[in-house]
Amino acid sequence: MSAPPEWSSLDHAALYAAHLETSLAATREALSAGPWAGVVFHAGEESYYHADDMPPPFHAVAHFTRFAPVVGPEHLLLVPRQGEARLLRVDPKDFWHEPPVASPTWFAGLEVDSVDTPHLARKQARELVADLSGWVYVGNSASAAEALGIPAANREPAALVRRLDWARGFKTPYEAACLREACRRASVGHHAVRQGAREQRSEHALHLSYLEATGLLEREVPYQNIIAWNEHSAVLHYGSKSRETPKPGYTLLIDAGATCNGYASDITRTHLREGSHAVFHEAWLGMIRLQDTLVDQVRPGLSYVALHEAAFRGVTELLCVLGVLQVSPDEAFERRYAFPFFPHGLGHHLGIQVHDVGGKQLGPDQGASAPPKDFPWLRTVRPLAEDHVVTIEPGLYFIPLLLNGFREGPEAAAFNWSLIDSLVPSGGIRIEDDVLVTATGRENLSRPYLPTQS
Ligand code: GLY
Ligand code: MN
Repeated sequence: MSAPPEWSSLDHAALYAAHLETSLAATREALSAGPWAGVVFHAGEESYYHADDMPPPFHAVAHFTRFAPVVGPEHLLLVPRQGEARLLRVDPKDFWHEPPVASPTWFAGLEVDSVDTPHLARKQARELVADLSGWVYVGNSASAAEALGIPAANREPAALVRRLDWARGFKTPYEAACLREACRRASVGHHAVRQGAREQRSEHALHLSYLEATGLLEREVPYQNIIAWNEHSAVLHYGSKSRETPKPGYTLLIDAGATCNGYASDITRTHLREGSHAVFHEAWLGMIRLQDTLVDQVRPGLSYVALHEAAFRGVTELLCVLGVLQVSPDEAFERRYAFPFFPHGLGHHLGIQVHDVGGKQLGPDQGASAPPKDFPWLRTVRPLAEDHVVTIEPGLYFIPLLLNGFREGPEAAAFNWSLIDSLVPSGGIRIEDDVLVTATGRENLSRPYLPTQS
């Protein structure tokens, strides 16, 4: 799979200009769901740890980031139903902190004013619009909305937010390029970790090598890196980074991403070293094949729920072929025996948020739909459409906590316990790619940079 053109070679100004036009049009369309005269997107207010003056890393409100790759809190973007959108940047002149980060040169097309303080930004917004009481506020601060003169009823009204969330499901070419670049950046770290895994380095050392290779600070990764040896790889959101050298180290699972202009990648690979359990090795090969066939089915109109069900069936059949389950694939599927081995959804929409908004909506004016009863952890029930980006991340794990519930009772005979017990030390397998739905099928955004087999 050949790599697409690099981010640095693209016409960023043209991509961003088209993205801005599309996003403004979608916002005005969303505003038509109510009587509102405009919307204020707030980059957000910093929060602080309890009874402390230390803030956790700041993440801007995603609706704001969609428009403006401007770092830091408190900026306001004013989008009237008619007329020019305006960005009020808050660039504090303050001797405690470094000067504001400059925006990229291609960031143009919005009227921009720079002020020193959040107070001045809010004051200027009130002066510019004269009366904001008929506007909507989207952001994380009730007090900011109040200072703007926007009534409580107009703070993130569901009818507007649903349409905004729905529209964010369709990625513009600018957003697709950002996501592609986020994949490329993450791949540099993945390659470093793969090399370090061959040298059997600790999770802690591998994590530091990921940060060094990607140039990211801990606070800049889009989600907490999962770097897990052996049994740890069966803990779905394993966050610790053990300093111990694994001896022996058989399985290394890495789930780690990067960002580009606020857009996140989310990529998982599982690497096996020599000496792995032969059945676990077969499981790994089977999961690589299964993930490939699932990615190959992605196309507009496909039901993501049906794709999850195909993944669940695939894992079920693999467990039967491996001899882990000792009943027919049909019976195992019917009885959902694969659940303790694959207890999460196939994936999720991806964008500014790693688990992006809109995945549970079935229409622009609908709220979140519940996932199917049998697959309660599925984060995406929305049928796939052109320009969506989703992850495809089936898994197969040996998780004692879930398996133990089946050890006793009438269903215990369906499971090969001696084999399962011998596989628990190997942990789990997950393979995750980020996939753009195109008019005719799909583009795998992450795979050109990262093969699945080491
Ligand atoms: N990469 C973490 C997750 O998708 O939950
Ligand atoms: Mn994911």
